[in-house]
Amino acid sequence: MTAALTSADAAVAADVARRLDRPVVLVGMMGVGKSSVGRRLAQALGVGFVDADDAIEEAAQMTIPDIFAQFGEPHFRDGERRVIARLLGSELPDGAAPQVKVLATGGGAFVNPETRALILERGHAIWLDADLDTLVERTARKNNRPLLQQGNPRETLARLRDERAAAYAQAPIHVLSGNGPHQRTLGNVLNALSAHLAEHGR
Ligand code: S3P
Repeated sequence: MTAALTSADAAVAADVARRLDRPVVLVGMMGVGKSSVGRRLAQALGVGFVDADDAIEEAAQMTIPDIFAQFGEPHFRDGERRVIARLLGSELPDGAAPQVKVLATGGGAFVNPETRALILERGHAIWLDADLDTLVERTARKNNRPLLQQGNPRETLARLRDERAAAYAQAPIHVLSGNGPHQRTLGNVLNALSAHLAEHGR
C-alpha cells in the first residue's frame, strides 16, 4: 500500500499525465529510491512501471548477483544496455514514439554513453540524488548489490557517486531525495516534471 497523494500533488499528477509525451526515466545511485519513487510516480500518473533490473533478471533468467558472479560486470552492462534499449522502443520503426511509462534504471545504466544518449533522446530523464549517509543507510537494508559486497560500502558508494556525478548531471531534471518519506520526493518529482514539460512547450 502506498499513502494517498496530497490533493495538490494529485492535481499536478493529473495535469502532468495529460501533457506527458514519452517515458519518464529515473537515474541515479543505488539506494536513492528510484524503484520506490518510480512505482509511486507511475501509479500517480496512471501509467505502467518497469524496473530495468527486474527486466534484466527476467531476460537472463538469473538474478543480478548470479550474473555478476558467473559472467562478470561487463556482461551485465551489455545486457543492461540491450534491455533498456528495448524498453525504450529501440525496435520500433523510425519516428515511432515509445509507450509512455515510468522506467527505473540501475545505478550504472546512465553512465554508459550509449544508454545515456538513448534515454536522453527517448525519455524525460530525472536524476534522483541523495546525500551519502542516506545512500549508505538505504543500501544496507538489502544485500543484493554485487558492487557493495566487497570492501567498505560507504567508501564504494562515495567513490561511485563522485565518478558518476558528471554523467547523472546530464539528466535535464534533478531532484534531491533527502532521507524523508518517498511520498515527499514524489511531490518534488511531479513539480520538477511539470516545470520541465512547460519549458519544452508541453
Ligand atoms: C548497480 C546498481 C543496481 C544494479 C547493479 C549495479 C550500479 O541497481 O543495477 O547491482 O552499478 O550502481 P540499483 O541502482 O537499482 O540498486
